[in-house]
Amino acid sequence: MTNPLKFIDKTVFVAGGTSGINFGIAENFAACGANVAVMSRSEDKVNAAVEKLQSYGTKALGFSADVRDYDAVANALAETEKLFGKIDVLISGAAGNFPAKASDMSPNAFKSVVDIDLLGSYHVLRAAYPHLKKPGASVVNISAPQAFVPMQLQSHVCAAKAGVDMLTRVLAMEWGAEKIRVNSIVPGPIQNTEGMARLAPSEKMIDAVKHSVPLQELGTADDIANAAMFLSSPMASYISGVVLPVDGGWSLNGAGQMMDTLARQLAK
Ligand code: NAP
Ligand code: COA
Repeated sequence: MTNPLKFIDKTVFVAGGTSGINFGIAENFAACGANVAVMSRSEDKVNAAVEKLQSYGTKALGFSADVRDYDAVANALAETEKLFGKIDVLISGAAGNFPAKASDMSPNAFKSVVDIDLLGSYHVLRAAYPHLKKPGASVVNISAPQAFVPMQLQSHVCAAKAGVDMLTRVLAMEWGAEKIRVNSIVPGPIQNTEGMARLAPSEKMIDAVKHSVPLQELGTADDIANAAMFLSSPMASYISGVVLPVDGGWSLNGAGQMMDTLARQLAK
């Protein structure tokens, strides 16, 4: 049997793939032989990511584009097909987050997160559609526990990520006949990420989060990358429309507590 987690000469596109969890996913696919394209807003982050990805000995491409700009997203995906061939794996993970009460944030603040996380995911998936390998492409949306665990100070993210998971389920149905599989991964609290820095901004809070995870530890970007590679491998060829928590059991109960602590602190 060949190693199912080899992606030699496969084309992988990672939206929001220049830092944190998504960059970890990009790196793991490159390490397994894939040619990887990443896209995010900051040109500096894009250049640094491409340079690191090239060190794995495969081809890498980068695009500076905002997921809220449909034409820019469509251009990046078309260019990727032109240079690397049809897209075997599409990861959609661009997101924005900040803690704020619904009654304290402006309509534009709420809209910004919905536009990046939900509308941005739709843009990425819609623009990728003509470039996806048919049959055989794997689409993985990076969701969050907020999609199904209500959290204080997270109305914008909860609404947006719940939408992302419904997009996953609906497109798994609409694209299934063409043998495109669409799944979501729900990362738990992942160490050394911007997301955690924003929601648990002290050692004490990180420690409390750690102890609210049944496995009593934070996850790593590699944990999420392993799941993304599994879902995109032949081992998962009959898995579609799934929302998969990769969170040490956090979303069973602990995830709901995290923002209660921050809400109490901010209220002081
Ligand atoms: P991160 O490092 O800030 O990653 C976000 C990425 O998206 C960056 O590459 C960022 O680059 C890009 N991005 C942001 N806004 C964008 C836009 N408008 N257009 C294009 N790209 C954009 O954060 P992270 O914590 O690793 O989070 C990554 C994903 O995991 C997110 O989907 C998040 O919701 C999810 N998640 C994270 C955790 C966690 O513990 N960290 C837990 C659950 C879910 P630019 O700034 O250059 O645009
Ligand atoms: N609390 C309340 N409102 C906030 C806020 C906060 N902490 N941060 C930003 N906003 C508001 C702004 O005031 C603005 O609203 P306004 O026009 O009514 O004043 C609105 O959100 C948009 O902010 P802006 O900075 O113009 O948006 P942007 O498109 O440049 O950035 C964000 C998007 C706000 C999501 C920004 O935090 C970001 O780029 N995040 C990406 C990285 C990230 O969040 N990583 C973690 C992923 S889980």
